[in-house]
Amino acid sequence: MIALGVNIDHVATLRQARYRDQKSSFPAPEPDPIEAARIAEKAGAEGITAHLREDRRHVIDRDIRHLGRVVHGKFNLEMSAAEDVVRRALLVRPDQATLVPERRAEVTTEGGLSLKSGRNKEKLARVIKRLSARHIAVSLFIDPDSAAVRAAAALEADAVEIHTGSYANARGRAARRELSRIRHAAEEAAGLGLAVYAGHGLNYVNIAGILAIPEIAEVNIGHSIVSHAMFVGFAQAVREMKALLAWAPKRQNQAKRT
Ligand code: PXP
Repeated sequence: MIALGVNIDHVATLRQARYRDQKSSFPAPEPDPIEAARIAEKAGAEGITAHLREDRRHVIDRDIRHLGRVVHGKFNLEMSAAEDVVRRALLVRPDQATLVPERRAEVTTEGGLSLKSGRNKEKLARVIKRLSARHIAVSLFIDPDSAAVRAAAALEADAVEIHTGSYANARGRAARRELSRIRHAAEEAAGLGLAVYAGHGLNYVNIAGILAIPEIAEVNIGHSIVSHAMFVGFAQAVREMKALLAWAPKRQNQAKRT
């Protein structure tokens, strides 16, 4: 079954909307993303993802320290290659670091890492080495294209997370085209020995396309689960996504038979 990493950033976003400037711990800032992580794991999530952004707009340092202690499954820290954040990661030692591009003005991560420029690659290579030396698995968030896959393999990353945002935003034929790009990137990455994950913009409907790609071992989903949780509760929202992911092996077996 495809593993589910629940991204709790948007729980932290809601908390920060009210408590960003509060200096004391009273009243207790809510909702607590750590509690969300506990509930998500109890409801069956295989891992928890949190993005420590350079501007700390949602997840803050205290959150990742606590997550490092309470997450039983995979703790995946999304982060840029900025020195301050790399140092925090080396202290907290998540199971995995997912390196993502980060721009201050963006509302959310808008694209995969740029792996074309030599300088960028050199910087990433140094960060990957430092994380790997502390036994933190490294995943690179990339767009579904062959050059990015090959660059990630050359950088000796452990995994790639394929950006599914364009697929999520497309309809009809365009969505099928995007899905085919994801499939090709996934096949190539797996062929090069990389673990393959996917994420961004995935929801209870568009996840169906991803289930049909057997190379994808894990999805990281935040916004749709947190949104659905408003109405059905966090545990139920996670359980419903897990139920959809459970279709995956059946679909693959069917594909093999036909
Ligand atoms: N994966 C990565 C690398 C991301 O940057 C994000 C967004 O923080 C996600 C997954 C989750 O995206 P969404 O909140 O749209 O499910």
